[in-house]
Amino acid sequence: MPAMSFPKDFAWGVATSSYQIEGATETDGKGPSVWDSFCRKPGAIRGGHDGRTACEHYQRYAEDVALMRQIGVRAYRFSVCWPRILPAGVGQVNQAGIDFYDRLVDALLEAGVTPYVTLFHWEYPLALYRRGGWLNPDSSDWFADYAGTVVRALSDRVKHWITLNEVQVFIVGGHYQGWHAPGDQHRFGEMLRAGHHALLAHGKAVQAIRANAQGESRVGYAPVGQVKYPVSNRSEDVDAARQAMFATEANQGWTNAWWMDPVMLGEYPASGLEVFGTDAPVPKPGDMKIIGEPIDFFGVNIYQGEQVRAGDDGRPEIVPHPVGCPMTGFNWPVTPEALYWGSRFFYERYQRRIIITENGLSCRDWISLDGRVHDPQRIDFAARYLRELHRAMQEGVPVDGYFHWSLMDNFEWAEGYLQRFGLIYVDFDTQARVLKDSAYWYRDVISTNGAKALADPGEAVS
Ligand code: FCB
Repeated sequence: MPAMSFPKDFAWGVATSSYQIEGATETDGKGPSVWDSFCRKPGAIRGGHDGRTACEHYQRYAEDVALMRQIGVRAYRFSVCWPRILPAGVGQVNQAGIDFYDRLVDALLEAGVTPYVTLFHWEYPLALYRRGGWLNPDSSDWFADYAGTVVRALSDRVKHWITLNEVQVFIVGGHYQGWHAPGDQHRFGEMLRAGHHALLAHGKAVQAIRANAQGESRVGYAPVGQVKYPVSNRSEDVDAARQAMFATEANQGWTNAWWMDPVMLGEYPASGLEVFGTDAPVPKPGDMKIIGEPIDFFGVNIYQGEQVRAGDDGRPEIVPHPVGCPMTGFNWPVTPEALYWGSRFFYERYQRRIIITENGLSCRDWISLDGRVHDPQRIDFAARYLRELHRAMQEGVPVDGYFHWSLMDNFEWAEGYLQRFGLIYVDFDTQARVLKDSAYWYRDVISTNGAKALADPGEAVS
């Protein structure tokens, strides 16, 4: 790889998810999901917002694909809404739902954009939730059947598949902490049991994808990467950060190893089994083999990291970010090192090719008097993160793609429409789309295969 660019076939992408952009939640036979019902719960969503209209992508997908073409994106990661395909989660297939994704995939291919399909970005069918949801031991079979249906319909054109998005968020956030759909606050052990079924659903879906795919397929997973990075390059600090990154602590659901080791190494981390004790799920014979079914790439969503140093006893200590450090609109610290250390530590442990399936930030963007949307902070953020990713790649970490979250402003879950993550601004009253400055910048990044992000600001790159 030349020092100042990315590999030739690097997947320069953007990402979205169905509930956050599609709208049309009651159209053409779609069944309800836990997100449709969670949004009706008083106080659950900032401003009482919901995804009923969102970006009207269901109707406007052709326009949105044209915008992708204008930016020149090479890959698009979107998700399929489970109850749009199977309104009750299992059983009767809704052909109109399949037809929508059919049209979308055709439009993408026509525009030269490679589709990456996520099978589950949190829209669990309400009908199945009423049967116990992820706590029901049958849930992994339900998911695998759904996966097979989607794969049979689209795999003549789609080769890249992602099973679950951020298992930590919908399991821990949705079944223990309660701030995410379905909004449950189960005991810790119950939550881990739901999580075990979700991991099993991942493994069975991998098998279903391979069994049903017409032709070649590449399958991945997309957990959240909770990155810890060292305060310095001293080996003690590096060791401490690595240790912290894969540690499991009592009653702490948000850990990497618990949700990644089973998939990547075929077992729960011993430290987790120890600290969770009787709360840990008891896998049935064969479960871990299914969960650990080898996958083709390790997808991971990375937004931020925490700094760690070796304490006096050598144990990891979190070092708070300095007062006044750069923060995004969500108050997430800007920590580009997370992409370098995250990719590096994940590759060291899992030895699998990496794709950054999400990275980005929210800003308080608006349309300026000149009619444009100026978002210099998004450009600076993405440039800094891409440089760090490139640094890891220069050192031998195999990274096949980067998907900016998000193509356009959208429904940001419990935050409603407040957090704008898009490269494209969306006016939610008129549904007008305006390319932000960052979209034009990203277009140049892609056309120079990354050189634009690596060059000094202001330097001309052609
Ligand atoms: C991730 C989600 C994605 C979006 C971004 C900001 O946790 O996968 O849907 O909300 O955060």
